Amino acid sequence: MSRKVILDVDTGSDDACAVMLAYLHKDIDLVAVCTVKGNQPLPYTTENTLRIRELLHADFPVYKGCSGSLVKNVVYPRIPPTANADAYDEEGNKIHIHQELFDLPASVRKEEDMNAVNFYIDYLMNAKEKVTIVPVGPLTNLAVALVIEPRIVENIEEIVIMGGGWNITNATLAAEFNIYDDPEAAQRVLHCGARITMVPLDATHTAYISQDDANELRKIGTPASLFAADLIDLRIKVHDYAQPLEVEHTCALHDPLCIAYLIDPQVLQDVKFCNVEVSLGGLTEGQTCVDQRAIQENRNVHFAFRGDHERFAKIFIDAFR
Ligand code: BDR
Ligand code: CA
Repeated sequence: MSRKVILDVDTGSDDACAVMLAYLHKDIDLVAVCTVKGNQPLPYTTENTLRIRELLHADFPVYKGCSGSLVKNVVYPRIPPTANADAYDEEGNKIHIHQELFDLPASVRKEEDMNAVNFYIDYLMNAKEKVTIVPVGPLTNLAVALVIEPRIVENIEEIVIMGGGWNITNATLAAEFNIYDDPEAAQRVLHCGARITMVPLDATHTAYISQDDANELRKIGTPASLFAADLIDLRIKVHDYAQPLEVEHTCALHDPLCIAYLIDPQVLQDVKFCNVEVSLGGLTEGQTCVDQRAIQENRNVHFAFRGDHERFAKIFIDAFR
């Protein structure tokens, strides 16, 4: 039986791959996609999501969500993140890991009239069966919905978050981008009481995607697989330049790893159930502090310390066949 999923994205090259995997895989019933600011401002993350929907000839609804974080940048600006730093190719041209707008036709069908926050409340308060929520951008939409209507948690099966990092960070010396972008929202979601699985950089960097994987996708030859292959090519260039992984000429394809986990939980390895708290200020702002003591209280998160590259690549590529 397929699993009902709401995706929350800041599309974004790896977000686009998450939308494609969720839509294409038979084990996932993609109920809706919510958008949030993050990799780009909200109008771009929304339009990019709509362009992907049209590339797929899909009909899931898209709900535009929050354009800013709960607290961040309201009072004073904070440390600028480097997760989305530019890289340069051999000819010295600038490459950005997330284009402002995808090089795809402008969308014809637009997003729904309802805001993503209201959608969460309306859908979850009326749901006849539980749904899994997969936020792969900053956690603002879900946090606001939880503040307005905490009872929505009763109809959440699981929240699978791409975010955080223990040994690996990318936004600052201490923080991963999605959590750093709205730490207060992340902290609220981590304490909402639902089952939470966190897919941090430690998992996404070890479940890397390689140039061979991109070549396999290209051989499939559909518009979606070719677009995914192009995004992976671009990500490999940026990773090689700015965030090299253990294996050369590979990239982290963070967001679809959350979807792959719903299809086969074994793509995540070394998963520990522990207390995770978000640092809300100072040098460690946005850090996911993971308690690994044998005796601890308040265990709230299943935190994955590794990912399985081969399982992930197979699930991802097979979905496009
Ligand atoms: C996360 O931040 C964004 O840049 C990516 O889309 C991913 O969700 C990785 O740190
Ligand atoms: Ca993302």
